[in-house]
Amino acid sequence: MEPLGDLGVDEVAQLVHTGAMPERDDVTGVIDEAHARTIGLDDGEVATYIPELADADPRLFGISVVGTDGDHYAVGDADAAFSIQSISKAFVYALVCETRGHYAVREAVGVNNTGLPFNSVMAVELNDGHPMNPMVNAGAIATTAMVPAGSATERWEIIRRGLSAFAGHPLELDASVYHSEAATNQRNQALARLLESYGRMEEDPLEAVDVYTRQCSLVVDAHDLAVMGATLADGGVNPVTRERVVSEQVCRDVLAIMASAGMYERSGEWLFEIGLPAKSGVSGGIVAVAPGKGAVGAYSPRLDRAGNSVRGQRAVAYLSRTLGLNMFAAHDVGSTVKRSWT
Ligand code: DON
Repeated sequence: MEPLGDLGVDEVAQLVHTGAMPERDDVTGVIDEAHARTIGLDDGEVATYIPELADADPRLFGISVVGTDGDHYAVGDADAAFSIQSISKAFVYALVCETRGHYAVREAVGVNNTGLPFNSVMAVELNDGHPMNPMVNAGAIATTAMVPAGSATERWEIIRRGLSAFAGHPLELDASVYHSEAATNQRNQALARLLESYGRMEEDPLEAVDVYTRQCSLVVDAHDLAVMGATLADGGVNPVTRERVVSEQVCRDVLAIMASAGMYERSGEWLFEIGLPAKSGVSGGIVAVAPGKGAVGAYSPRLDRAGNSVRGQRAVAYLSRTLGLNMFAAHDVGSTVKRSWT
């Protein structure tokens, strides 16, 4: 498909559509209810293709909500630690947009959904070697390689510091998860080599996969995800630390890609039912962002076939509905004219 190109609106000031979270007591009641309604779900499977993830306790289930005012709410195992996995892709993409600019990243990585699984080789081949978007593994590895740095070690440190700024505290590497994935990630190495063969890798492909594997192994909990998401909801300012992490423009870019590709081949269904940009990871995390209002972080390790947490998706769906977070939902301003077409 031909890109839309320059639409000539860059210099026009953009108004933002914002709203507010409901009152504190209401949010507390609603997230307790979301947890109670979905904790009984035990379908789905814990990811096993990264051996270390197979040991996750499938009973764990935590939800956190953080508003752009910094207010936070939590229920269940919101402080249970897990590796961030694919959710890192959205935030590394933000760092690359911030440092390389909107057009460079759009051209090199792309912004369209593949409709195929996150680790698809076929998606790259079907698109003439283009990685397609930064939320699938091929695009994420290409994006990681675009972080400006003098060496792979420096690139990894920039990513670790950047994601820590989103979370509001230093994030640490889970060495067991990193070594477990590094020993079994031949498919990602193949994807990186394939991109290289099409001239789509800026850095050494295996070094880029190594840094990508490290970023996926950073330890977070559901509350961290909610703070990271709330930073995107807050135009790039962390609502807890008040540090500006990225620009407003970058948040728009990241949220747009999360909306179109953050839940992989189920992204369309997700947007249709839930109406929020979101990103999931194979360890069982989900972050969903309500621009201007805040974000939800959820963690539960059992996944559906696309790799999205079963309980997490249901809990976010309930919260989106009951907290009025769906971006597409608007009330009318009051009609006095009867419907004319029925
Ligand atoms: O590259 C991988 O396969 C993992 N480090 C991350 C994949 C992932 O989280 C996909 N998510 N649903």
